[in-house]
Amino acid sequence: MVATSPAVHPHWSSRAAFVLAAVGSAVGLGNLWRFPAEAGANGGGAFVLIYILCVALIGAPLLLAETLIGRHGQRSTVESAMLLARQSKASSAWASLAAIGMVANYFILTFYSVVAGWVLYFIGTSAADVARTLSEGQPFAGAYANLTVEQIRAQMPDLFADPVKMTLTHFIFAAATTFIVARGVKGGIEVAATWLMPAFFVLLVGITIYAGLSGDFAAAVRFLFTPDFERALQPQVVNSALGQAFFSLSLGGGAMVAYGAYASRETNLGQTSGVIAGADTAVAIIAGLAIFPIVFSVGLTPDAGPTLMFQTLPAAFHSMPGGALVALAFFVLALFAALTSSVSLLEIATAYLVERFNMSRAAAASLLGAGFFLIGLASVLSFNVWADHRPLAFLPGFQNAGWFDAFDGLTGRLLLPLSGLITAVFIGWVADRRLVDEETGLQKGPLLPLWRFLVAWLCPVAVFLILLFGLFPQLVS
Ligand code: TRP
Repeated sequence: MVATSPAVHPHWSSRAAFVLAAVGSAVGLGNLWRFPAEAGANGGGAFVLIYILCVALIGAPLLLAETLIGRHGQRSTVESAMLLARQSKASSAWASLAAIGMVANYFILTFYSVVAGWVLYFIGTSAADVARTLSEGQPFAGAYANLTVEQIRAQMPDLFADPVKMTLTHFIFAAATTFIVARGVKGGIEVAATWLMPAFFVLLVGITIYAGLSGDFAAAVRFLFTPDFERALQPQVVNSALGQAFFSLSLGGGAMVAYGAYASRETNLGQTSGVIAGADTAVAIIAGLAIFPIVFSVGLTPDAGPTLMFQTLPAAFHSMPGGALVALAFFVLALFAALTSSVSLLEIATAYLVERFNMSRAAAASLLGAGFFLIGLASVLSFNVWADHRPLAFLPGFQNAGWFDAFDGLTGRLLLPLSGLITAVFIGWVADRRLVDEETGLQKGPLLPLWRFLVAWLCPVAVFLILLFGLFPQLVS
C-alpha cells in the first residue's frame, strides 16, 4: 500500500532552497544558546575539539543516512523508513526508529518554543531600550544604560518567576511556527528560510566583526581553541559533545529525513550533507567568536551555562559602546535562527498526519501546534509554580530534573542518540545496499566505503558507548 501511494508532498524549488532550509533547521538556538553554554561549561577547547570530531565522524555520516531515507521514500519519516525496510525485505518494525524520532522531535519543540519565547522577551526589552536611547539622542549607548548590572542580571530570574509573560511569548512563537508550517513546504518553510537565513548570516557576521573590534578576541580564541586533553577525554565531556552534535545537526529526530523527502533526484546528497554539517559547525564556532570576546572583555566568566545568553551577554552589552543596538540585533538574529529550526521540528509530525490521515496541512499543523503549546506549559511552569515537580525521578540521572530539564535531557541524552543508533544499524546493516549506495551520490572515489564504515561501525559503537556512559557515569569513574 505504501509503495504505490502517490507522493503527496511537493519538492523544494531548487537545491539551494533545500540547503537553506536544512541549514535553517540545523542552525538554531542549538548554535547560539546551547553550543556556547556547553563549551563554556565543559572547558572550552576540549569540548570544541571533541565536538568537531563528533560532527565529522558521526554527525555528518548520519546526516547523509537520514536525508537518503527521506529522499528515497519521498514521504514522511515513518512511511519513508517503512518503505525502505520493505524494499530491503526487512521487518517494517524498523520504521519504529522514525516513530521514536517523531516523538522526540515533538518533545523538543515543546521546550524549544519556551526558550524562543525568552528570546522574544529580550527582543522586547532591548527594543524598548533602543527606543529610549534613540529618543535621548544616544544611539550608541550601552545596553540598558538606565539599569544597574544587578538589575540587568535580574531580568532572567524575574522572567522565570512570571508564568504569564513566559506563556505569552511561548504562545506567540508557537503560533508563528504553526503559521509557517501550515502555509506549506514551498509557500511557508522555503520562503521563511530564504529570507531569514541570509538575514541571519549578515547579522552574525556584523556582530562578530563588532566583537572582534571591541571585545577581547584573543581571549576568546584561546578559550575556544586550546584543548585541555585531560579534560577532553572525560566521559561527560564526550557525552555532552555528542549530544550537542545531534541536537545542532537536527539529527536523530527525523527532521533531516523529512527535508530529504522534498529533495529532487538530482540533488547529490553526499555533497549536500557535507555542506549542511560544515555550515552548521561554522555558525556554532562563529557564534562562539561573537559571544565570548564580549563576555571576556568585561571580565565575565564563560561558564554560566544556559543563562549565558540571557544573563551574561546582556550584562556585557551594558558596558560596550553601541551595546543597545547590538543587543537588539543579536536577539533578532537568534529569533530568525529559532524559527527556521522550529518549523522543521513541527514539519515531521505534520507531514505524517497529512499523509496518514489525509488531513489538510492547515488542520494538521494547527492541531499539533495547539498540542505542543499546551505541553510546553509544563516547561513554563517548571520554573515557578511547578518548580518542585520531578517527573522522571525514577530514571538514573534525572532525579533532579524538573519538566524542562526532563524534556531536554530525555530527548538530548536518550531519544536522539537512540534513534541515531537505530538509523545507523538500519542503514549500515539492514537496508538494501544497492538502494542505499545509489542514493548517496558517493559512487566515485573512496568516500563511499569510508562512509559505509563510519555508518556501520563507528556510529553504532560510539553512540552505544556514549549512551551507556552518559546514563551510567558510575561505570567509568
Ligand atoms: N538543530 C536545531 C538547533 O540547533 C534544533 C533542531 C531542529 C533539532 N530540528 C531538530 C534538534 C531535530 C533535534 C532534532 O537549534
